[in-house]
Amino acid sequence: MTTTIDTILGRASAARLGSPAPTRAQLEIILSAGLNAPDHGRLRPWRYVVLQGDGLDLLGRAMSELKQRQTPEASAEVLDAVRMKARRAPVIVVAAAHLVKGHRKVPEIEQIIAVGAAVENMVLAAHSLGIGTMWKTGDPAYDSQVKQVLGLDLNGTAKDGEHLAAGPAEESEGPAGGEGTPADAEAPAEVAVEETAPPAEEAKAEETPTVEETSS
Ligand SMILES: Cc1cc2nc3c(=O)[nH]c(=O)nc-3n(C[C@H](O)[C@H](O)[C@H](O)COP(=O)(O)O)c2cc1C
Repeated sequence: MTTTIDTILGRASAARLGSPAPTRAQLEIILSAGLNAPDHGRLRPWRYVVLQGDGLDLLGRAMSELKQRQTPEASAEVLDAVRMKARRAPVIVVAAAHLVKGHRKVPEIEQIIAVGAAVENMVLAAHSLGIGTMWKTGDPAYDSQVKQVLGLDLNGTAKDGEHLAAGPAEESEGPAGGEGTPADAEAPAEVAVEETAPPAEEAKAEETPTVEETSS
């Protein structure tokens, strides 16, 4: 375990992300770090979807479909390569902002900043655990159909604190907002995580989860 300063100064994106995946216990620490970011008004504007296994393929297909919509003449090989991008990491944590529009004290920019702080908390927690990360966005992060596939169209009715485990994306519902009107998720960002020095047995037990949404 390194000191906090070592962790911050030593952080860098991982050039490559590979197996084995972080253990469930490690993922819980990382997500807890993401739930513990500074947050004006305690609005908890972050939403996370953890993708593993089939969940990665769900994202990969959505990314490939987006590519096809953007470039109808794209070859099957290109579409397949885009689809497989989602498999470059054993785990992807998708982070989204669930904004309260027109909040009387907390402007939207501060809510988005809180989600950015949450992602950085997760990146640093992962680094502290010896797990590599790469923070990515790109076109899929801003596409409404990709968001919908991930259950991040966030006009649903799930309550804050609800935890939806290992279900397909269509079972995921967005949270009710605080003050103001809940809006679509803004700019999901992926944090792909990789364990660099894994305890092999724990890592093996981690093959099951597919899609998981958590909020707090
Ligand atoms: C919000 C956000 C989105 C990013 N999106 C991408 C991306 O889509 N592709 C990419 O190559 N780098 C992206 N980056 C930058 C990388 O995560 C990384 O920080 C950068 O390559 C610098 O490397 P370092 O993290 O080792 O300092 C993004 C960073 C942030 C903060």
